[in-house]
Amino acid sequence: MNARSLYWETGKGCLVLLDQRKLPVEERYVECRSCSDVVEAIRGMVVRGAPAIGAAAAYGIVLAALEFNGGRGEPCDLEGFREHLAAAAGALCAARPTAVNLRWAVDRMMRRASEAIQHASKGERGCGSIIEATRHKLMEEASKIASEDVEANKSIGQVGLSLVPPGARIMTYCNAGALATVDYGTALGVIRCAHAAGRNVRVYACETRPFFQGARLTSWELIRDNIPVTLITDNMAGYVMKEGLVDLVIVGADRIAANGDVANKIGTYMLAVLARENKLPFYVAAPVSTIDLSLPNGSQIPIEFRSAEEVTNVGFQRIAPEGVDVLNPAFDVTPHEFITAIITERGLVREPYEASLKRVAGSEC
Ligand code: MRU
Repeated sequence: MNARSLYWETGKGCLVLLDQRKLPVEERYVECRSCSDVVEAIRGMVVRGAPAIGAAAAYGIVLAALEFNGGRGEPCDLEGFREHLAAAAGALCAARPTAVNLRWAVDRMMRRASEAIQHASKGERGCGSIIEATRHKLMEEASKIASEDVEANKSIGQVGLSLVPPGARIMTYCNAGALATVDYGTALGVIRCAHAAGRNVRVYACETRPFFQGARLTSWELIRDNIPVTLITDNMAGYVMKEGLVDLVIVGADRIAANGDVANKIGTYMLAVLARENKLPFYVAAPVSTIDLSLPNGSQIPIEFRSAEEVTNVGFQRIAPEGVDVLNPAFDVTPHEFITAIITERGLVREPYEASLKRVAGSEC
């Protein structure tokens, strides 16, 4: 009973997002009818998780193409259409800076748009019909991005299965599940696959302050799938490891640099250091669209800083005194030395990361 994070509603011509700010208290859906609705939804965490925001952004480009009205009447403006799409792409990419899947998906959509415009322009077609053909191709491409993501996650699950012994107790962080992807999940994809294979796993989910993705989303997903889960606060992770209550850690990723350094939810680095201290394997599960070979190491990964209210408040309740200074980086970078292996849909990646990441990502990333 996975929770699909998003889908396209053909009848209404809109992108529907499961509102992740409200879960698990309320199962509410948000309809995005314009590209700027998608930008706001990504920025405001209605949809979150690297692959999910990538897929949402792809549909954002579709909405931008549908919104353009310079192609319906005369004079039709093909250059205006291109500029309109480029502006939409810029706004989507700026919505959240750390997860590279967002830019990856937007770039892929923009390449598709250029190809479609070029191809349609070769025929005898008028400008209006070139735009119509491009819209059609963009819709196809966004659906492909969404369905490929689900397939990639299922393959990640299969690849990761070899790392999960029977009875394994697995610690995870944030939410790298169906909600963070289009469906099935990356870290939770491995856990789902192990559960389905009868490995009798138990998950330790860290609550993941300040947005509580672990408490609110990971626990919710796992309970719906009848996968045993124990919720802990983030500062209990060391205790749980030292007491021998976990066997391995699996987390997701927002961006993987060429040397294997991994950006993921703030606190991941702390968990990796604890895992090494306690001699536990620390795995990262991610599709190849999360690999960014253009960055030699993690120090160049842009880290998003979010509002002070996420730290001073819990829900609508303020817990910190007025006037306190707050630091709220949403991600940190785990150096590759702390990572036992990276689980991708194209196989396991281990040291030396530079060469193995190039092998799985090829020229794509
Ligand atoms: O701020 P978020 O909730 O978007 O952060 C999400 C994470 O850090 C996930 O672990 C990551 O995106 C991988 S999701 C498969």
